[in-house]
Amino acid sequence: MSRVLVTSALPYINGIKHLGNLVGSMLPADVYARFMRARGHEVAFVCATDEHGTPAELAAAAAGQEVAAYCAEQHEVQRAACEGFGLSFDVFGRSSSAQNRALTQHFAKTLEENGYIEERSERQVYSPQDGRFLPDRYVEGTCPNCGFERARGDQCDNCGKLLDPVDLIDPYSAISGSKDVELRETKHLYLLQSKLEPEVRAWVDAHPDWPQLTRSIAYKWLDEGLRDRAITRDLSWGIPVAYDGAVREGFEDKVFYVWFDAPIAYIAATQELDPEGWERWWRTDQGADETRYVQFMGKDNVAFHTVSFPATLLGSQEPWKTVDTLKSLNWLTWYGGKFSTSQNRGVFMDQALEIMPADAWRWYLMANAPESDDTAFTLEAFQAAVNKDLADVLGNLVNRVTRFASSRFDGVVPEGGQAGDTEEALFAEIDKRLPAYTEHLERMEFRKAFAELRAIWAAGNEYLQAAAPWTAFKEDKARAAASVRTGLNLIRLIAELSAPVIPFTAAAMLKIFGPDADQAWPEGRARDLLDRLEPGRAFEAPAVLFRKIEDDQLAEWAERFGAP
Ligand code: 2FM
Ligand code: ZN
Repeated sequence: MSRVLVTSALPYINGIKHLGNLVGSMLPADVYARFMRARGHEVAFVCATDEHGTPAELAAAAAGQEVAAYCAEQHEVQRAACEGFGLSFDVFGRSSSAQNRALTQHFAKTLEENGYIEERSERQVYSPQDGRFLPDRYVEGTCPNCGFERARGDQCDNCGKLLDPVDLIDPYSAISGSKDVELRETKHLYLLQSKLEPEVRAWVDAHPDWPQLTRSIAYKWLDEGLRDRAITRDLSWGIPVAYDGAVREGFEDKVFYVWFDAPIAYIAATQELDPEGWERWWRTDQGADETRYVQFMGKDNVAFHTVSFPATLLGSQEPWKTVDTLKSLNWLTWYGGKFSTSQNRGVFMDQALEIMPADAWRWYLMANAPESDDTAFTLEAFQAAVNKDLADVLGNLVNRVTRFASSRFDGVVPEGGQAGDTEEALFAEIDKRLPAYTEHLERMEFRKAFAELRAIWAAGNEYLQAAAPWTAFKEDKARAAASVRTGLNLIRLIAELSAPVIPFTAAAMLKIFGPDADQAWPEGRARDLLDRLEPGRAFEAPAVLFRKIEDDQLAEWAERFGAP
């Protein structure tokens, strides 16, 4: 057993996340954390809301709320939605916590002492009408790259290019709409990433086993040459630019940039989780060298996690734990286009749970995770996954075995009979697929993993079809008993294997055999794994596990969620 730290990219506080955000980091991280726990590792699964920056301020203003109150409310909304999806965070913290404030200020101070931060004067967009600077998303205008007229100061939503507000053509204030904007001098702190480049490069070079997508993004940034980066902004909401309680002179109206403090919140949230023992997860001189650290994120976050955050950690010259491997995902699209709150396109986490149980979404999203490419979500494919994989294959297997066993064997695991050719064929299939499944999960190859799991479910159904205990029962009761016993054992094994991805269903399946069913990851040969339930043990047939999605429901959802 070892220690595994799992972090998911922190969801922005501004509004509930859609299915694409969910499968981009939080859900795969959860599946992996659950798998690691089942394997017997000690796991800290850490997430938090990312609460600073212009997105939070703008959303609060749009909602007519104070930003602190808005964040507190939205944190709770997101926490509840995550809980509904069974995301098993050990902590769901907040980047606005006192812990994150202290840590962020500590890092800045240490980086400055080490010569990696300097104060620079620069020209920024200022709006006389609003009486303030307009950082990041506070300014909009025409994209210099693609000509899109509503590009935001930090990024163009049309072509995806990262921008600087001063690059925009015909800029205007996102607050007042005023076009009367000018460039004014302002002071900011710069993290000297150019100076840290050799350290960062050596560190990336030391991780040749990272997935291809992750490595290519890291080297793209390194090869272009790391640029020094402003880590403060002219904003009031955020972490004050203060060291040891004293605000830096001239920085009274400034805060740290959201992307400087957000990743530090991984550490801060671990402090929230374990105020006494957090260092064994994060300090290599306190045992974290024994920790394996895995991060999950969408591809747009990779540069921040392979270059910027490591620059902060390495530049501190303190013994911080850095990531061992990063799993990055592509986009899940809404029928090939963008999910959009404002244009009512796509399913958001709260809506998803209103219409179908969490496991239905979890299964579909993970079995079709956007791993090697962007992947389109469609309600039709979701319906097919639920009706075929979950209802016809998995649900049917559980239903047929438990109902037959209840009516013919009095609700206890039957005794008598022995494994024959049909069972041997099933054992051989599972002995082939179970190691492959485990290996894919270890490597975080989710699509491949869940294709194996689906094949195990299907093998169970085929076995039942071939063994046909309902026919055997008439002539050879011992044979029927052996098949039913194998079938019940199979339900238990399948529940254990399926728990990382469909935890609610797996729990319902295990409950068939009482509260004490063991939840460890099954290891060993199929003939032993399928012979663990002692004959005579009582069980209870569960209610139907999955209901099918009807065509008229699908039509209603298509209308409601703006399917093309
Ligand atoms: O892109 C995003 O959604 C960011 N909120 C992710 C932050 S990840 C971490 F660094 F905090
Ligand atoms: Zn553009």
